[in-house]
Amino acid sequence: MATRRLLVTGGSQGIGEALVEQARATGHEVTFTGRDPARVDAVAERTGAHGLVADITRADDNARAVDHALARMGSIDVLVNNAGYAYRAEIGALDVAAMREMFETNVFGLVDLTNRVVPHMKSQALGDIVNIASTSGMKGAATATPYAASKWALRGITQCWQAELRPHNIRVTCICPSEVQTNFGGRGGRNNPNKLYAADIAATIMAGIGLPQRVLWTEVAIFATNPWKED
Ligand SMILES: NC(=O)c1ccc[n+]([C@@H]2O[C@H](COP(=O)([O-])OP(=O)(O)OC[C@H]3O[C@@H](n4cnc5c(N)ncnc54)[C@H](OP(=O)(O)O)[C@@H]3O)[C@@H](O)[C@H]2O)c1
Repeated sequence: MATRRLLVTGGSQGIGEALVEQARATGHEVTFTGRDPARVDAVAERTGAHGLVADITRADDNARAVDHALARMGSIDVLVNNAGYAYRAEIGALDVAAMREMFETNVFGLVDLTNRVVPHMKSQALGDIVNIASTSGMKGAATATPYAASKWALRGITQCWQAELRPHNIRVTCICPSEVQTNFGGRGGRNNPNKLYAADIAATIMAGIGLPQRVLWTEVAIFATNPWKED
């Protein structure tokens, strides 16, 4: 694959961090964001990527992230919308303010950042946008109303962007992982060989952006194979 210039949100830990590592190890240029300065610095130092402390819910941070990426790399070929978290609660006991706050990260912040990147991709008539949704956005489950709604929204957004951006040679892909053993939801320290690891999702993203330009993965659901489990 030719050298690509990636902007990755939420690259300071978990799936984003694994992606920054794999992209750098295979010679690509990477700018990534995160909120925790110590974690951002540590990943930047270890990988040689450009780390930026930026919160995706803040419009000024998103403007700064795009400016920074363009200044450091010259352009953005690949945008990976990865930053996100889960607020879970059962209907009847759901805090709507907490659900709205999560949508600011998982949906509105992501849309704001992409809105700023797309004009650059259109001007070069080339690009990949990878949206990290979830199998939670494919099948409902107890306590998942807020999170599933945000990821279901992202799958719909992906389809709209595919319709709008394919004529501009910009591919938009939705990646839907099932459970991945990161610190997601405060559940760190897992090491179950039968479940997915962050590196598995990073490898899938790298494979997708490396496909011939004619090939578009519209959506990919990722499960661990051993043993097969549907959530
Ligand atoms: N783990 C799973 O089981 C799983 C399954 C399906 C889908 N996903 C999705 O995969 C994506 C990554 O999850 P993960 O498991 O890698 O989680 P993680 O280990 O908790 O990492 C989340 C990353 O997102 C960043 N982030 C969160 N809110 C942010 C904000 N407002 N602005 C900027 N960065 C922000 C975090 O940065 P800081 O730590 O610096 O704040 C961190 O780098 C999420 O969209 C998640 O919904 C995860």
